[in-house]
Amino acid sequence: SSIKMNIQHVYNWLPEEDILRQGPTATACNQALYDGSREGSDFLGWVKLPSTITEDQFKEIEDAAVSLRSACKVVVVVGIGGSYLGARAIIDALNNSFDWLQTKRERPVIVYAGNSLSEDYLYELIKYLEDKDFGIINISKSGTTTEPAVAFRLLKDLLEEKVGKSEARNRIIAITDAEKGALRTLATIEKYKTFVIPDDIGGRYSVLTPVGLLPIAVAGFDIRKLVHGAATMEKNTGANVAFEYNLSAIYAVIRNELYKKGKKIEILVNYHPKLHYFAEWWKQLFGESEGKDNKGIFPAAVDFTTDLHSMGQWIQEGERTIFETVISIKEPNYKVVIPHDNQNLDGLNYLEGKRVDEVNKMAELGTRIAHVDGGVPNILIEIPKLDEESLGQLIYFFEKACGISGYLLGVNPFNQPGVEAYKRNMFALLEKPGYEEETRAIKQKLSD
Ligand code: PA5
Repeated sequence: SSIKMNIQHVYNWLPEEDILRQGPTATACNQALYDGSREGSDFLGWVKLPSTITEDQFKEIEDAAVSLRSACKVVVVVGIGGSYLGARAIIDALNNSFDWLQTKRERPVIVYAGNSLSEDYLYELIKYLEDKDFGIINISKSGTTTEPAVAFRLLKDLLEEKVGKSEARNRIIAITDAEKGALRTLATIEKYKTFVIPDDIGGRYSVLTPVGLLPIAVAGFDIRKLVHGAATMEKNTGANVAFEYNLSAIYAVIRNELYKKGKKIEILVNYHPKLHYFAEWWKQLFGESEGKDNKGIFPAAVDFTTDLHSMGQWIQEGERTIFETVISIKEPNYKVVIPHDNQNLDGLNYLEGKRVDEVNKMAELGTRIAHVDGGVPNILIEIPKLDEESLGQLIYFFEKACGISGYLLGVNPFNQPGVEAYKRNMFALLEKPGYEEETRAIKQKLSD
């Protein structure tokens, strides 16, 4: 079964006919993702990716995953932004919440590095890894990003010291550009197993390439089902699908029309903390794709009911510039029933016999009604279960929506010129070779 979208709680702000009126424009934007007729046409490799991954490609990833799993108790996924968030989103969503505490395990613990420059984090990670059989998946499309490069240098040293250069080679996999970048050079010289990030797929659209699929397979999840889910959504949002049936196009139109009406912030809501990193992935996808040319919805996220006890106040009664998109999971994977208690000191016997999820669902419904009454439009996206198939659908649903949405907004959804500004300053301050001019300028600025 497929993901569903309920949009009836946007009609107070956006009548159905206003949404339908945008149908032809949205369909043209979707078409442009297939014919490459608009900006960013060099980065459309993700559009037909799910339906075109070959058996050989699956096999190569699965074989590499098996060999890493057999050699390692811990695998460090090194990467940042689009080279990190997709894998973490899916692994966290599918993993047991206490996975890393389980001692009898068939699969390695997955940990992450290279997604910050925190010295304490790296120190603690190195200490943790010192007595572990570990391996590394090093992911960087450009192959030159500072955060993962620093982490990898440290971890490579540690691994080589522990197991020797030759065994380290068996436990390091690099995922990078086919030809360019320092990581490609390093991998070639060190003879690492490598996977290629296709030229025409940007970081934030790369979760269904080896960037996401290899770590997800190493973590023990079914990448074929994930891709199958995405392929289903690829079909359901294809260029020839009528607007009324194309969920991605409808979602893209609604968010853009709400934006025009002053709803400048979209909050992605979940009721299961395992989706926290899925929201981080979503934030990058939309934030980096649309936040440019001085426009774009600000993508925010909350975990409910947790954040109802913190951000709930703001959402209910703060500035009315927000709308919510809720990811609802129809059926949990497990069953927990609230027991009877003879004393009933906590007053909870009215809930006895109910599943915890029934309580969660009533919190969800009650919150939706309260927020809509409070002036917050609400889009509801329901997935049948938290599994590979549903997550695959959700990934592609959002990717396609983001491409259409960026074109509706009138930006290039596939570039990210703004992320360079901090790097230039950082390199100037660190006196990186080649940045002499910038170093002089920034020193001058600081002394003004
Ligand atoms: O989406 C993007 O382009 C960025 O988030 C990149 O993925 C991130 O900066 C990492 O880049 P790279 O894979 O080149 O190390």
